[in-house]
Amino acid sequence: MPDTPIAAHDGTLLVLTPGMGAVSTTFMAGVEAVRRGSAQPTGSLSQLQTIRLGARSEGRNPLIKDVVPLAPLDDLAFAGWDVFADDAYEAARRAAVLDERDLEPLRDFLSTITPMPAAFDQEYVKRLDGPNVKSAASKMDLAEALRDDIRSAIAASGATRAVMVWCGSTEIYLQPADCHRDMAAFERGLKENDPAIAPSQLYAYAAIMEGVAYANGAPNLSADVPVLEQLALERGVPICGKDFKTGQTLMKTAIAPAFKARMLGVAGWYSTNILGNRDGEVLDDPDSFKAKEVTKSSVLDAILEPDSYPDLYADLYHKVRINYYPPRGDAKEGWDNIDIFGWLGYPMQIKLDFLCRDSILAAPIVLDLALFLDLAARAGQSGLQEWLSFYFKSPTTKVGHIPEHDLFIQHLRLKNTLRVFAGETPVTHLSEDFDEAG
Ligand SMILES: NC(=O)c1ccc[n+]([C@@H]2O[C@H](COP(=O)([O-])OP(=O)(O)OC[C@H]3O[C@@H](n4cnc5c(N)ncnc54)[C@H](O)[C@@H]3O)[C@@H](O)[C@H]2O)c1
Repeated sequence: MPDTPIAAHDGTLLVLTPGMGAVSTTFMAGVEAVRRGSAQPTGSLSQLQTIRLGARSEGRNPLIKDVVPLAPLDDLAFAGWDVFADDAYEAARRAAVLDERDLEPLRDFLSTITPMPAAFDQEYVKRLDGPNVKSAASKMDLAEALRDDIRSAIAASGATRAVMVWCGSTEIYLQPADCHRDMAAFERGLKENDPAIAPSQLYAYAAIMEGVAYANGAPNLSADVPVLEQLALERGVPICGKDFKTGQTLMKTAIAPAFKARMLGVAGWYSTNILGNRDGEVLDDPDSFKAKEVTKSSVLDAILEPDSYPDLYADLYHKVRINYYPPRGDAKEGWDNIDIFGWLGYPMQIKLDFLCRDSILAAPIVLDLALFLDLAARAGQSGLQEWLSFYFKSPTTKVGHIPEHDLFIQHLRLKNTLRVFAGETPVTHLSEDFDEAG
């Protein structure tokens, strides 16, 4: 936690997004609409949420953005990379998240944001093939080209600093390999084109080397390897991940804590999704789905703790499916059947049908992560930022730490960290009459 004052926000903050698809363009369009006064930043804690400071009786409940020095929306600029050359307006039209009537007034702004050529390899995203791709002899050359891009984009936008939020596709499932052990092994892997190094890792490496904070919105391994975590620490760069917590997992991590709090058993949890956007198409490939399945599946065990409550949760059957169904586009349907049991083992069922909009839920997360990571950087924080777990399906933690999935504990931790950033006392809810802080 900061022991020196947080450096003031000054000048433009450039938000870099590898991937300019549905999530990224919905984020950019939304920020611009809010700036023009034609929309509300609904879903964004950084813009809308208040935070209690001190004792409840003091009645101090300012907005988060008035308590910590976040970059104002007017000072954000955007740049990104994509495999397709469409500018942000064309990409947003193609993604069809926003209606024509919302998009058209933003055309002048969005069409100025054109993607830089991607560091991409179809080996890692089988269902994608596009023309706007860099070619280079080695992965090291690609990483150097990305570093050049970052420097040029910062210079072109006149920004004083940048953050990067991965909004690119889900890559195939990869596990840490030898080349992820330390810097010497990683740099050798980059030069020798080690297949264990995926494109998303090139972006993460380039960002950290350039002192740019990095968040990973997909389940990709990306910065989640010892060498990049160490590099982030050494270079004083905050990082966090992974996989935005938006629809079904948001619900799961809100409901599961209630079962555990009430000591109700769970016999089974069947979750299925239908979605028809490009993300759904990519996830239709079994190798990309595997990466998503792993991040989506781990949450229940972490919340319900079957080792501590074997009678209630050890036999829980948890199944997660994602089905590509083009007619729905970005309007995903997440359907959960939950078999729970109560007193004397009597069974009950809960059916949850969330007709959600994927990118509408994800866009404010991109905004909050960009602003909070920038704050963390100015507060002198480096390495993994576990206090941002709130935003992720599969929070990345330091070695030896257990990831926290419970949405409410994550939320408490997020707000307490912001209180500490603001020089205030964390709230523990222990004080009986709330007359004192805590
Ligand atoms: N929308 C959600 O609710 C949600 C939730 C959690 C995670 N995510 C993840 O966020 C990511 C973005 O989702 P989306 O709906 O915007 O998908 P999308 O398919 O609309 O956009 C992803 C874009 O990334 C591009 N891309 C792929 N590899 C790239 C690379 N190496 N470099 C640059 N660009 C690359 C693709 O061409 C595509 O335009 C996905 O990985 C998705 O799984 C989304």
